[in-house]
Amino acid sequence: MNPLLKDAQKAGERVGLKSDKIVIRGGKPLRGEVSVRGAKNLVTKAMVASLLGETESLLRDVPDISDVEVVRNLLEVHGVSVTSPEPGELLLDPRNVKSAHFAEIDAFAGSSRIPILFCGPLLHQLGEAFIPDLGGCRIGDRPINFHLDALRFMGATVDKGYEGIHLTAPHGLRGANIELPYPSVGATEQVLLSGVRARGVTELKNAAIEPEIMDLIAVLQKMGAIISVEPNRVILIEGVDSLRGYTHRAIFDRNEAASWASAALATRGDIMVKGAKQQELMTFLNVFRKVGGAFDVEEDGIRFYHPGTPLKPVVVETDVHPGFMTDWQQPLVVALTQAEGTSVVHETVYENRFGFTEALIEMGADIVVHKQGIESITRRVPRRPLEQAAVITGPTPLHGADVHVPDLRGGFSHLIAALAADGESTISNVGIISRGYEHFIDKLQMLGADFDVEG
Ligand code: EPU
Repeated sequence: MNPLLKDAQKAGERVGLKSDKIVIRGGKPLRGEVSVRGAKNLVTKAMVASLLGETESLLRDVPDISDVEVVRNLLEVHGVSVTSPEPGELLLDPRNVKSAHFAEIDAFAGSSRIPILFCGPLLHQLGEAFIPDLGGCRIGDRPINFHLDALRFMGATVDKGYEGIHLTAPHGLRGANIELPYPSVGATEQVLLSGVRARGVTELKNAAIEPEIMDLIAVLQKMGAIISVEPNRVILIEGVDSLRGYTHRAIFDRNEAASWASAALATRGDIMVKGAKQQELMTFLNVFRKVGGAFDVEEDGIRFYHPGTPLKPVVVETDVHPGFMTDWQQPLVVALTQAEGTSVVHETVYENRFGFTEALIEMGADIVVHKQGIESITRRVPRRPLEQAAVITGPTPLHGADVHVPDLRGGFSHLIAALAADGESTISNVGIISRGYEHFIDKLQMLGADFDVEG
């Protein structure tokens, strides 16, 4: 085996997952307290931003998840020293940044899309960057076309070769006027990370404005960047000559918080999520309340619980911020199987995010996925052909099943479903869940779940 790949596997072990299979005996409400730390979808980007500094950066509230390990390894192969002065802290020193061999990048990237965000910082630091071809359609042109187009507008040359994509910018990146076809989170981050040190001003139209993006802008401002968020999704970036390191505490992980909230509802439980904040969860909280879930916003977190009265069906559409996040729908769908009536969840962000419902159907749920979305509520962004809608009719008792986890959020939903179901479920490929849920096995134990880790 490639020794680098072996190291990448050790990274998985470092996050505490010894087995890939758990056997859950469901039907027991989850009760207790869990803490959420920094958001995966900010922490990994803030780690990449450290590449832009001339001095070291200190990032706080870093969760112990395997996506952080992936980025850490990728930074290290590019010459960044990454140490952990205290648990939950990363000290990132970019003073010896160097090009990495494509095989090293490939070995550590796995299925992660994060290498694409290294492009801007590496083009500034080294004049070149490399994105591995991760095989098959995992990184085809379509999912990164906004990124590549933005980089081309800013003066990068993009060469597609057998092993991946090689980018160069011998004359440096320059400011540009860019309009995204869709307010993509990753492409907005790409433009931010590339524009901060480009020559001149970059105007980004139709930008994503998720709280994690605002937190990345805060990181970049601490480094010396000049970025203004204008009305109507316009972001202006005035390029500067140099940036320094930052000290920053990451915004909390609202996706993890919403996942535990849905777990409380689906299992008729009561979970205090420490570290969760109301403001970034307002849209989620409205839907949670409409479904019949109860919550108390407290000083140090939010308590989510099933009030004991029947749950109600909802119609909800995923959307860009400030809409209902696509990452929130999968755990919520499990709770909706227990609502009295028919709910509709309309996915408008990703084309294939209902695959997880197959396992729920096997467990007894009544869910029909329609290949076309619904024409309904006023949209923040125009309708796209990729949309799907799931119609969930409840309440249906769930029973145990053998389930193979397909992806991060879908996998967490399978865990919740198994915990809510009568009888025993065997969930395999659970390792994928540690990409984004810190110490989820320990947390399940603390919440009183009845399970065994196999192996
Ligand atoms: N898209 C393109 N071309 C591009 C980029 C995006 O067609 O070049 C499309 C995508 O295929 C998708 C839509 O645009 O249909 C939105 O994608 P976006 O770029 O906004 O998503 P992302 O940056 O790849 C991040 C999070 C996701 C989260 C989405 C939406 C990270 C690492 N990932 O993905 O989180 O769902 O934004 O908020 O930040 C997760 O945490 O499980 C996760 C998938």
